[in-house]
Amino acid sequence: MMASRFQSPKELNEVVMSQPERPLINLSCSERESNRSANPTFADLLQARISRRNCLKGGGALAAGIGLAQLTGCSLGADDKKPVSRLGFSAIAATVADSITVPAGYTTQALLPWGTPLMDGAVPFRTDASNSAAEQARQMGSHHDGMHFFPIDLKSGGSSSTEGLLVMNHEYCDPDLLHTNGPSPLPRPLAEVEKELAAHGNSIAHIRLNSAGEWQLVEGSRYNRRITGATHMEIDGPLRAHAAMKTLYSPQGIATRGTLNNCSNGVTPWGTYLTCEENWAGVFINSGVQPREQSRYGVPDNEDDNYYHWHTAAPVSDLAARFNAAPQADSAEQDYRNEPNTYGWIVEIDPFAPDSTPVKHTALGRFAHEGIIFHPPVEGQPLVAYSGDDSRFEYIYKYVSRDAYQQASAGSHLLQNGTLYVAVFHDSGRGEWRALDINDAAFKQRAGEAGIHFDSQADVLLNTRLAADVVGATKMDRPEWGAVNPMNGDVYFTLTNNSKRKQDQVNAANPRAKNIYGHIIRWAENERPQATAFHWDVFWFGGEAGTNQPAYGKSSDAASEIACPDGLRFDNDGLLWIETDISNSSPLLGSERFGNNGMYCADPVTGDFRRFLSGPMGCELTGIAITPDQSTLFVNIQHPGEGSTPDNFTSHWPDGGNSRPRSATVAIRRQDGGKVGT
Ligand code: FEO
Ligand code: CA
Repeated sequence: MMASRFQSPKELNEVVMSQPERPLINLSCSERESNRSANPTFADLLQARISRRNCLKGGGALAAGIGLAQLTGCSLGADDKKPVSRLGFSAIAATVADSITVPAGYTTQALLPWGTPLMDGAVPFRTDASNSAAEQARQMGSHHDGMHFFPIDLKSGGSSSTEGLLVMNHEYCDPDLLHTNGPSPLPRPLAEVEKELAAHGNSIAHIRLNSAGEWQLVEGSRYNRRITGATHMEIDGPLRAHAAMKTLYSPQGIATRGTLNNCSNGVTPWGTYLTCEENWAGVFINSGVQPREQSRYGVPDNEDDNYYHWHTAAPVSDLAARFNAAPQADSAEQDYRNEPNTYGWIVEIDPFAPDSTPVKHTALGRFAHEGIIFHPPVEGQPLVAYSGDDSRFEYIYKYVSRDAYQQASAGSHLLQNGTLYVAVFHDSGRGEWRALDINDAAFKQRAGEAGIHFDSQADVLLNTRLAADVVGATKMDRPEWGAVNPMNGDVYFTLTNNSKRKQDQVNAANPRAKNIYGHIIRWAENERPQATAFHWDVFWFGGEAGTNQPAYGKSSDAASEIACPDGLRFDNDGLLWIETDISNSSPLLGSERFGNNGMYCADPVTGDFRRFLSGPMGCELTGIAITPDQSTLFVNIQHPGEGSTPDNFTSHWPDGGNSRPRSATVAIRRQDGGKVGT
């Protein structure tokens, strides 16, 4: 039987990854890495960091080694005269209102909620959630997440801010809300499973700003499109046609169906959308002996830890049965033992080519991808991108393309061959990128010392987490989104929280035991984006209003205190937008101190940090898209009313009254048409 209330993939992931019998790292070498009992305390680290900043400010030998950019905070000591604030709004107070709250002078518009008819032939959303699977497959999916606005004239060199393609993820679904009476008991009715698969994936919505300043779907547009958990996808890169990718669906190992649990996103320099597979492991099950490419990723071995029980669907369907990864036949070409290997990737979608096939890029590594961000490309240089692995004690990765970027010929080939690195944050404030490359001498030596064998580079990428364990990567407090500062190339990453970090597991980059508030780390590459060395500091600590922030001293106040930073994006002027995802299981959510989840804006130049938006009850803020002129900022409200049951909705956003809560996008504009935030 299913639980009386559906537990979201995020909640189940917390449970699964907390179980002592499921160690996060199943290698003795990695266990040694996590035992850092000699690490300094938080106070020691903070003092050291401030001292380092002053040293850098002084322009000494350390500063001479900084090529790309000085960390902005390092050039601003507490005694520096601050520039005038660039934030043109007053911080809003924390609130638990079941609505969107923004500063005075702004308007908000909810659009494209789950169920909105999107494609030709789509039918309206039924308020009792009785739409069929086939109907759902032509409507907006549920649980909106990462998102990007592509100007409609992008391919012809334009930069429209009034018409474009809004592309987004649908991270997961909540069967308690997706079906009129919630999920049926096991075995799951196939019709429900098919609807759940159809609610996942991505949407491409052609939208236009009307004369009243409201965004509207361009109905009938050829671009309006759904991608779901059943859509045909190609596999490229080193794993294409590899034995580990062969399934009954694709005996050649070159294709799979669907993308699932897509969290955060990226946008390529050539104008395509990247969607990132995060908590995919929990949709599979294998109660037998699991190979390392399943066990290291937390594929459940029992029904309780499985998200949706799709593999139980009745009547039996190939589309659903593939989620059982236990061998059923004599060979991999005859069953779905390898199906989990076709997940955990970054998927490229061309929104301007409605008939194109999404591509899973295996060169970018396999883990719980939370977004991908690019350094601004440099002509004639490799393309550089970053991606975090959002699980407790997992890592941050960097990809450097083999081929040089050339604007005239830039395209997917830059994501097919390259070197994947993983970050090591030294306590000194220095860092290094260690290659996960079977031909790299240091990698070979470390793998040999750990007694780990990889057959090929494809095997390394299939087992990316294991390869990162081998080289001693730094275990982080759940890496979520990243963002590159367009002003100086500094890279920022949110580390949303890690309540399980013990005192003897702290390190300088993750300096707090039981880190319930999270923090934001940043680094500057040495000299060039593709460098293998960097220097880093902490930009901001959650839950540290007042005088304790490391970079600037007194720029925060209680009204703008933050917890659990997640979504992150710089606008073109270098203002940093930060979204929060305090879990519904945390007492911080709904507290007087933090209220509902929201969005903040920070100015790394001045240290200003202000709460800009508060979302409705039970939601998280995620997805950030900005029009080129910065007059509209889109955010996604995911899972309003999380924890609702079919007969008790804990939020009624966005439709009000007694309505069923729905994830939706919000367009935010200044009443005077100016740049949002300024
Ligand atoms: Fe889906 Fe890590 O947030
Ligand atoms: Ca997230």
